[in-house]
Amino acid sequence: MDRTAQLTARVTERGIAYDPPSTAPRGASLHVRAARVLAANWTGNSTVPSRSLYPHQWSWDSAFIAIGLRRLSPLRAQTELETLLAAQWGDGRVPHIVFSPSVPLDAYFPSPDFWRSSTAGRAAGAPRTVQTSGIVQPPVHALAAWLVHQADPGLSRARGFLARVYPRLAAWHRYLLRRRDLGGGGLVSVVHPWEQGMDNSPCWDGPLARVTPAAARSFRRADLDHGTPEDRPTDLDYGRYVRLAADYRDGEYAHGGGEFAVEDPSFNALLIASEHALARIAAELGAPGTARHARAERLTAALVDRLWDDASGMFLCRDLRGGPLRERSVSGLVPLLLPGLPREVAGALAGTLRGPHFAARTGLVPSYDLRGPAFEPNRYWRGPAWFNTAWLVERGLRAHGEKAAADALRTAFLHAAGNSGFAEYVDPDTGEACGAPGFGWTAALTLDLLHDRGGAVETGEEGGDRG
Ligand code: SER
Repeated sequence: MDRTAQLTARVTERGIAYDPPSTAPRGASLHVRAARVLAANWTGNSTVPSRSLYPHQWSWDSAFIAIGLRRLSPLRAQTELETLLAAQWGDGRVPHIVFSPSVPLDAYFPSPDFWRSSTAGRAAGAPRTVQTSGIVQPPVHALAAWLVHQADPGLSRARGFLARVYPRLAAWHRYLLRRRDLGGGGLVSVVHPWEQGMDNSPCWDGPLARVTPAAARSFRRADLDHGTPEDRPTDLDYGRYVRLAADYRDGEYAHGGGEFAVEDPSFNALLIASEHALARIAAELGAPGTARHARAERLTAALVDRLWDDASGMFLCRDLRGGPLRERSVSGLVPLLLPGLPREVAGALAGTLRGPHFAARTGLVPSYDLRGPAFEPNRYWRGPAWFNTAWLVERGLRAHGEKAAADALRTAFLHAAGNSGFAEYVDPDTGEACGAPGFGWTAALTLDLLHDRGGAVETGEEGGDRG
C-alpha cells in the first residue's frame, strides 16, 4: 500500500479527520491544561511520565520535564533533577528508572525485582536505599540544570542548586566518556535500545536480530494493560530487550561484552549540549569551563567524522559490530541542536527536514523515515512524531537562523500537543493521539515553548559566556 492509501485507510478505519494547524490554540488555556497534567503527574519530589504506563521516575523524561517545569515552578524543577541525581550510582551512572516504593511490583515491567540494583549493581556502586534500573538514558541533565538555573538565578543561588548538582553531573559525564567509549573513537555507545530512548526504532532491527529473545513465558509485560498493542513494541522486541537487560545484569552491569553496542547521533549530541552547559555551570560557580567547551568541540568533530552521512543529508547510527545503519531516524536530525556544527552540515539537516523523508502533514517531525520500509504511523518510535524530539529540532532550527521553519514547527507542536490531550506521541500525518494521554514531557515542553520569547537555547559554544 502506498503512503496516501495507507493514510486514507487509517483515517477511515479510526474515523478521524486531519485538521491542519491553521490557528494556534489559545495560549492561556493551553498553559492551564499543561500545568494540570504536570500537577497530576507530580509525586511530591518528581514527576511520573504517565500515571498509568510509566508510574516511576524516568531519567530523560525528568530532564525534559524540568525544562518545562521551570516555567511554572523553578523550585519543583530543581527538585525534579535533585531527586533523580540522588539515585546516581557510585560509578557515576544515572539510572534510567528510579522506582517508587509505593507502586506495586506488577504495575510496570521490568520491575525492581528484575533489575536487582542493590545486589547485582553493588560492585558498580548502586544505591542501597533506592531501587533503580541498571541502564542509562540520554544525558539531557546538565542542559536541563543550566536552563532551570537561568529561570530563577536568585532562587538557584540561595539554594546552592548548581553547587550541589555540579559534582554529580560531572561524574555522570565522566562515566559516559571513560566507560562507554566502546568504539574507541571518542563517542559514547549505548548497550540497550532503552538506553538510547527510541526503543523500537527500525535502526535497531539489524543489531537486535543477533539477540536470542528471552522465552515469552519468562516474563509478563505490564505495558499492554494500559496501551494499545498496535502503538507499542512487539512481543519479539520485548523478548530481546529482556535478554539484553538480563545479560547485562548478570554481568553485574559492567561494560562492553554484550550483543548490542551502538553509537547514536542523538545520545551523543545531547551529551555535547550538556557538556557545553556544564562549562557554563562551572563558570557560574567560579571555575574555568574552557576545557569542557574544548572537549565538547572535539566531541562535535568526532560526531561529524564518525556518524555524518552526506548522501542522506543526516547523521546515521553506527553498529559497532556491523558498521553504519542505513535507516533514517529522527535521531540523525537531533544534532541540529548544536550551534557549533559545520555550516554545510546544519544546512543539509534543515534541507532533510523539508524533504520527503521527514516533512509530515502535521508539520511535526516523524521518528522514522516517512518513506522507509519499516514506517508505521502509530507504533512507538517506528514513525510517530514525539514532542521531545520536536522541541530539540525546533531549538536547533532557531539556533541556525531558520526562523520560519522554527516558527512553523513551534505552531505545529502547540497545536498537536493541545489537540491530542498532551499525548505521548501522535500520528505524524493526522495528529491522532497515540500511547499514553497526559504525558509529562509533552505538557512540560508545551509550557516551555509557550513561554519562550523566541530565543535559541544555549546549547553550543556560541551565544553564552565562555568559562
Ligand atoms: N521506554 C521503555 C518502556 O516502554 C522503558 O524505558 O517501558
